[in-house]
Amino acid sequence: MHYVELVEAGLNNFKRREGHEPLPPGRGQALVRMRAASLNFIDLAVAQGIYPGISYPLIPVADGAGEVVAVGPEVINVSTGDRVALHPKVLWHAGRASALQARTMRGVDRPGSLVELATVDAATLVKAPDHLSWEAIATLPITATTAWNALATGEIGPGSTVALLGTGGVSIFALQLAKARGGRVIITSSSDEKLERARALGADETVNYSTNPDWETAILKLTGGVGADLVLDTVGASSFARSLAAVRQGGVVYTVGFVTGSKLEVDLMPLIVKAVRVVGNNTGSVANLAEAVAAIAAHRIEPVVDHVFKLGELSDAYSALAAGGHLGKLAIRLDW
Ligand SMILES: NC(=O)c1ccc[n+]([C@@H]2O[C@H](COP(=O)([O-])OP(=O)(O)OC[C@H]3O[C@@H](n4cnc5c(N)ncnc54)[C@H](OP(=O)(O)O)[C@@H]3O)[C@@H](O)[C@H]2O)c1
Repeated sequence: MHYVELVEAGLNNFKRREGHEPLPPGRGQALVRMRAASLNFIDLAVAQGIYPGISYPLIPVADGAGEVVAVGPEVINVSTGDRVALHPKVLWHAGRASALQARTMRGVDRPGSLVELATVDAATLVKAPDHLSWEAIATLPITATTAWNALATGEIGPGSTVALLGTGGVSIFALQLAKARGGRVIITSSSDEKLERARALGADETVNYSTNPDWETAILKLTGGVGADLVLDTVGASSFARSLAAVRQGGVVYTVGFVTGSKLEVDLMPLIVKAVRVVGNNTGSVANLAEAVAAIAAHRIEPVVDHVFKLGELSDAYSALAAGGHLGKLAIRLDW
């Protein structure tokens, strides 16, 4: 059985390995033939050695998709032949998480997706909609779950306005799911070409944050001075104060990202005066993923896969994520 190891921190430190065939799945377990993986910012942080508490070597990449090839006794949610997404938070099935449930994650402190055959707890598998490719299924776990949880927390529906920062994986899923929920979407980007693509995906309004660094003012203008009901902050230190300015009275700033760092000095006054709900998030549960997948199936949403890399191009895939030229997701096809 083949797998890939990240032997130590560094984007050129992936080594292909061969190991023993896995044992038949035990009680409650499934054996999954992995077909595709997709990259998230956390995979980059793990590979760059900037994510806390990592021990190398490890099998990298949190998100993945595959086909169930065997199930153990007492598995009731999946069968042989099912196409599934593997949820990376392997201990967090539903409800509020304990610190351990929130922290434990495939590709971080559990074996990740760059493996030919994965033995997993069947309860962490979610059946994929028929219309999706392997690569598209692999984009779902972290990104669709996070985007869905943001929209659910902001109670986004007809009449709501969502502000999305940048055109990365989380923002683009949030755009697609917000439109499915009937919301109005304002999205920012450093690139007019990406904003054009976002419009084609249904964005109602676009703001270029490079040519218009005071993007929060643009959002206020586009909402008649009121502000967005939900600002999904995927950017972090450089955007948080502006997100507080862009959200409406009593609205939600849903903070998930640290692309520009995580340390900042904040003026509490806008937060207090506007009674803003600042909600932190750490992905979500298997049940949250299942909700997002149900919406994706019902609305036949096509995840945006910007590029599919081969296994031999892993360093290129990680470098592409770091460079940020993509819109939506970067995927890896697992052809051994
Ligand atoms: N906590 C959670 O639950 C959770 C879950 C998923 C992701 N995340 C985090 O959320 C963040 C985004 O994840 P992702 O997967 O969407 O990342 P991504 O695909 O790499 O997208 C990041 C995007 O952010 C935009 N950006 C970069 N620098 C910016 C700046 N200075 N100002 C405004 N926008 C900027 C860029 O958009 P343009 O190219 O359009 O300019 C870029 O494409 C990461 O920090 C990730 O770790 C957290």
